[in-house]
Amino acid sequence: MLVLGIESSCDETSIAICQDTSNLQSRILALKTYSQIKEHELFGGVVPEIAARNHLVKIQALTRVAVKDADIKIEDITHIAVTTNPGLIGGLMVGICFAKGLAMQLQKPLININHLDGHIFTTYLTDDLVKNFYCLLISGGHCQTIAVQNFNRKKIYGSTLDDSVGEAFDKLAKLLGLGYPGGAKIEALAKNGNEDAFAFTLQMMRRDEFNFSFSGLKTNFLNTVARLAKQSLNIEPSDLKNITNLHSLLPSDIVADLCASFQKIVASILIDRTLNMIKADGKRFNKLVISGGVAANKYIKQRFINAMQNDGIEVITPPISLCTDNAAMIAAACIAENLYNTICHF
Ligand code: KG4
Ligand code: ZN
Repeated sequence: MLVLGIESSCDETSIAICQDTSNLQSRILALKTYSQIKEHELFGGVVPEIAARNHLVKIQALTRVAVKDADIKIEDITHIAVTTNPGLIGGLMVGICFAKGLAMQLQKPLININHLDGHIFTTYLTDDLVKNFYCLLISGGHCQTIAVQNFNRKKIYGSTLDDSVGEAFDKLAKLLGLGYPGGAKIEALAKNGNEDAFAFTLQMMRRDEFNFSFSGLKTNFLNTVARLAKQSLNIEPSDLKNITNLHSLLPSDIVADLCASFQKIVASILIDRTLNMIKADGKRFNKLVISGGVAANKYIKQRFINAMQNDGIEVITPPISLCTDNAAMIAAACIAENLYNTICHF
């Protein structure tokens, strides 16, 4: 298989060419991603309409460059895989229409890929074929614990009841005026902070709890910041929404402590729910894949490595460049599903 992957569900326009080979080094022949962060930063989040227009502007040129980089002829492609859900409808439409046109012109099968399957199967690109594993999917839009058997049988144990974990990082970063997206910025600030400085409350820590909820933690964080802003800057809570650079007004050690304490509690919640899944699932597998944008967080990964040691579970995370949205993971999901013949051509 020589798969052209297309991803346009959010704010990354991405095209990849991947091969189903046993040689890890050559699975990704080309990967071209245009990140629209600059276009959305100003608004503190992704604006769907702007995202869709940018996908339209970039998608064709990225495809040309990817084909050139892979050193193939476009006719050599055997499958076209495109993200069809979930995502922002405008961006998905651009990717799907482009993929359909290409598939018709080249007379190649068009494969619809669920974006979350893309994150789950990113591991195919960088690790030896892992068929059975637990997955913690932590991204800007999703937070799930999943048991994956033989690639295609997935049992979802837990999902978020409100915000996704990446969204929580982004909202706190917005409150502090750190810009969008906020996860990596919070991680960087947390490095110099004391993670025990603020005791944010741990919620729903029960053996039988699988779902996630970050809204209570978010309110907890907001109230703490409001109290600190009043104490040290005499800013009223009602005026906080007008302050766009709170992080540079508050003492830098306090900002670092806030970020470190938040990150600590998030890691504890994620570990708790993942261990609950593994126990409830009878500890059938010995690998845990952590994927999605938040898997780029080195602190969270290390906490998982420590927590899984006792159970002998190996923690696998994709390289940072493949954690956030990209088309190689969409091509990888297509290849992984084909290995188990679950592809239906349409
Ligand atoms: O997977 P992704 O690119 O998009 C979705 O499918 O949603 O994830 C983006 C999310 C953003 O919320 C971003 O803040 C978060 O991943 N993120 C991080 C880090 N790098 C990216 N969160 C925590 N720590 C990081 N180092
Ligand atoms: Zn994603």
